[in-house]
Amino acid sequence: MLDFTKKDWWKQAVVYQIYPKSFQDSNGDGIGDLPGILSRLDYLQTLGVDALWLSPVFASPQADNGYDISDYRAIDPLFGDMEDMRTLIREARRRGIVILLDLVLNHTSDQHRWFLQARQSRDNPYHDYYIWRDGEPGTPPNGMTATFGGPAWTWVPEIGQYYFHQFAPQQPDLNWANPKVRQELYEMIRAWIDEGVGGFRLDVIDQIGKDPDLEVTGNGPRLHEFLRELAASTWAGRNLVTVGEAWGADIPRARLYSAPDGSEMSMVFQFEQMVLDQGKTKWEPRPFALPALKKSIERWQQGLHGQGWNSLFWNNHDLPRIVSRWGDDGAARADSAKAWAVALHGLQGTPYIYQGEELGMTNAPYPLADYRDIESRNAYEEMRAAGKTDAEAMQALHRMARDNARTPMQWTAGENAGFTTGTPWMRVNPNHTAINAEAELADPDSVFATYRALIALRKSHPVVVEGDFTLLCPDDKQVFAYLRRGAGQLLLVAVNLSGETAEFALPVAFAGTRPLLATQGAPRPGVLRPWEGLIYCRDL
Ligand code: GLC
Ligand code: CA
Repeated sequence: MLDFTKKDWWKQAVVYQIYPKSFQDSNGDGIGDLPGILSRLDYLQTLGVDALWLSPVFASPQADNGYDISDYRAIDPLFGDMEDMRTLIREARRRGIVILLDLVLNHTSDQHRWFLQARQSRDNPYHDYYIWRDGEPGTPPNGMTATFGGPAWTWVPEIGQYYFHQFAPQQPDLNWANPKVRQELYEMIRAWIDEGVGGFRLDVIDQIGKDPDLEVTGNGPRLHEFLRELAASTWAGRNLVTVGEAWGADIPRARLYSAPDGSEMSMVFQFEQMVLDQGKTKWEPRPFALPALKKSIERWQQGLHGQGWNSLFWNNHDLPRIVSRWGDDGAARADSAKAWAVALHGLQGTPYIYQGEELGMTNAPYPLADYRDIESRNAYEEMRAAGKTDAEAMQALHRMARDNARTPMQWTAGENAGFTTGTPWMRVNPNHTAINAEAELADPDSVFATYRALIALRKSHPVVVEGDFTLLCPDDKQVFAYLRRGAGQLLLVAVNLSGETAEFALPVAFAGTRPLLATQGAPRPGVLRPWEGLIYCRDL
């Protein structure tokens, strides 16, 4: 168990992300909920994770599955109530697990009482909580577009103004330049800290310093000023873990975000690795090349060593499943899932596991009618309008849609994968008959067992937390291998990230030693089998 009162405890932690809608339903309405999560704490404790990041469970009309909050201080009745949250926080703590809440501070729902007031008149006290510009119907203030399609400005005829929204029209952006907005948010965060949460994930936090007149959203002029004020007014000095989502982060910016003095956050999610196979938009593929991924990881590992902190992830609720994306979700599914796990969990930083990743869950290539996400639906329409055929648009969705990650958790081979006794809000992946937690818990050789072993290894070998990073064979197109040195130990991670046998000579420092972890039994000299992953460690 980690000591959560210790400074920087999160450097040793492994975080598990829960997408509450799809994790476990407890009352048969087909929607996952807080009592459902409570009922699965033993499973999470068996896995060995230290913190649970819950995607938003606050009151919300669910236009973007909770990323449109209408009341930051209430739990959405879909998920339970405040008492359920208190019970979850308490029961998780008993098992050495803290709860992290997902704060969406860049925007609210258009049903938030602030926005309902704000849109009533220009002199309503809440008007200035949002970003308004004068204009004429049909001629928005500028050409900025929203992430989920269409213009970033929506006209409100009653008051003759446009409001700004980086995402859907149901997600108006808050005006962070207004100190009242900031103070209200800080107060709300302090109230959650008093409830005993272990920290926060901060949604699209790199957008809060925006200047729409300059057409700047990410990394805006006042971003770090606001972040420092936010930290100082809330979590600073309280041993919480905070992770900001920052698509626009580069290494110098990440050093600010995760400055060791704690003036901003513990760490950020940056996406440099996760966009390497994307073209202009995520719907347009670009070939994936392992050497480019390795170079990028090397830069971040070395760039933040001693100067910040990395978060490590292949998956979340916005990304397709790693095993389908860069692994093999056919015959080599389990092996390739383990390989990507080993590749990540030997790195320096805090690893995040997205629900079902520890089982090797796959993408869900459903027909459009079985997809639920506002982004998937809008993207389909936009691709069709731009001249793509139905087959082309569906292929793009099957590859990249966020829905791929949002299918219900696969607990059992039984009906609805044990997720619900009712009708699931989103179709269960039919492969749950083969891929499910029950089967994997019973199999010492499962993907789950590998994740469990990797988490334990991070706890037992300080080099994993503290060591520096040296990339081996940078140009090799199949093998990802690296050394970690620190805390009196030398660690070697070697993974074949391809479906063909690869040559690999064990560095002499490890000659004659046996691996600490091997995903396919005893290694063969001179080679790595397809998707094989190995970790060695020796004292220095
Ligand atoms: C973040 C969330 C995503 C959401 C968006 C708008 O990127 O991860 O799910 O749609 O912000 O809040
Ligand atoms: Ca439910």
